[in-house]
Amino acid sequence: MSDILEHIEAGVMTLTLNRVDKKNSITSAMYGLLADSLAKAKEDTSVRVVVIQGHATIFSAGNDIADFLHRPPTTGEAPVFRFLHGIAAFPKPIVAAVCGPAVGIGTTMLFHCDLVYAGDNAAFAMPFVNLGIVPEAASSLLVPQMFGYHRAAEALLLGEPFMAEAALEVGLVNKVLPPTEANDYAQNVAKKLAAKPLSSIVETKRLLKMGQMDAVHARMDEESVIFGRMLGEPAAKEAFGAFMEKRRPDFSKL
Ligand code: COA
Repeated sequence: MSDILEHIEAGVMTLTLNRVDKKNSITSAMYGLLADSLAKAKEDTSVRVVVIQGHATIFSAGNDIADFLHRPPTTGEAPVFRFLHGIAAFPKPIVAAVCGPAVGIGTTMLFHCDLVYAGDNAAFAMPFVNLGIVPEAASSLLVPQMFGYHRAAEALLLGEPFMAEAALEVGLVNKVLPPTEANDYAQNVAKKLAAKPLSSIVETKRLLKMGQMDAVHARMDEESVIFGRMLGEPAAKEAFGAFMEKRRPDFSKL
């Protein structure tokens, strides 16, 4: 079965991260599939809303680290950047259902979703510093805007997980639910959106986002240049090497 499941029904395209044995970590191939599905959903007039969901126990552990080391995203055409620019510019509503850990891009992609429903087991984390790299997905711009500077600094400099209730308080999620109910709740909201006039929905989303669409894409590009450079530096090598060897990283000399 594919690592990304795509299902279209009654105007709603549901994309399910389906690699639970590897904690829904996302490979380059999976980014490609997600980007392709979003491109299709944008053009397909029968799709009015997209839902992104994981499993009741895990949303996503972020980039697949082994795949990432094997196929680092070196050009702007890399599938991860195609996905990120695609989700940021996606014109129709995106609803996310998040249960369990949402690490790295598992959290940062949510800044490009319109409505986010979390299981009470959701644990969000943006541990880029702990990996010797920098934030991506324009999160260096969007996290301080949403959280306020000090809470953003806490989330991005310490990189520690924060739970669903804290995410609700800072405005990252719309509602916290029992994990077994989050996906169904997101589907029901998506159905409500799908029943509304699409032109009005699309124009409203465009107006909500237009103030900083260019800045979001520019920040993604800026972050990706720094991210690419830092991937080759000693701190990232130590962090990713430690993950692969299942040990704690040692940054004491870096
Ligand atoms: N990339 C590749 N493989 C990953 C992964 C990732 N980001 N996250 C988890 N996995 C794999 C593990 O290596 C393990 O594989 P194995 O069974 O072959 O040994 C499997 O998924 C289960 O992971 P495990 O860590 O045992 O699960 P857990 O329930 O104890 O913890 C997480 C879940 C998500 C908290 C933890 O896996 C984690 O922190 N992952 C790394 C997250 C990260 O740093 N992401 C940022 C990438 S930029």
